[in-house]
Amino acid sequence: MSRREIVEVGHPVLRECAREVSEEELRSDEVQRLIDDMVETMRAADGAGLAANQVAETLRIAVVEVRPGNPRYPYKAPIPLTVVVNPVIEPLDDEVERINEGCLSVPNLRGEVPRHMSIRLRYTDRDGEEHEEVRRGLTAGTFQHELDHLDGVLFLDRVDDPATLTTWDAYERFYRDTFEERARSIVERTGS
Ligand code: NI
Repeated sequence: MSRREIVEVGHPVLRECAREVSEEELRSDEVQRLIDDMVETMRAADGAGLAANQVAETLRIAVVEVRPGNPRYPYKAPIPLTVVVNPVIEPLDDEVERINEGCLSVPNLRGEVPRHMSIRLRYTDRDGEEHEEVRRGLTAGTFQHELDHLDGVLFLDRVDDPATLTTWDAYERFYRDTFEERARSIVERTGS
């Protein structure tokens, strides 16, 4: 396994729509190695997720994991490591909450993004098994953020009020307490 370079906003690959992965490709050493590298890269950067576009590969693959005490997102509920290949999501209702997000490809910026609170997530795992799951709350938001990357969309595009954009320092100083209170109430209500 090795860490890959995370590309940053402005790199054209972040604006590309990634393509589906075939069953044969998924079994290949190259794609299995890419998945291992994405997990290692995400963990090394304390991310909550990483999409293939962020390491300059345009395949529909993303990894998500929140370990307890993640320093970037301490308020998120833990998410076991989940590798999603060719994922598809569908909102289950109209409930939307504003989530304060950051992104490893958008250094030193956070902002508020409306996200669905209940989604159905369908994907293939790295072994080729198909899954269908319901994900709720902040976890649903995390998957929406990663799947957006596969369509060339950044959280910046979804910030509906630019006045919520902050540096990470300004977030800590002016927004963290208010947002963490809201985040805790979402986790209590939805369980994730
Ligand atoms: Ni991101």
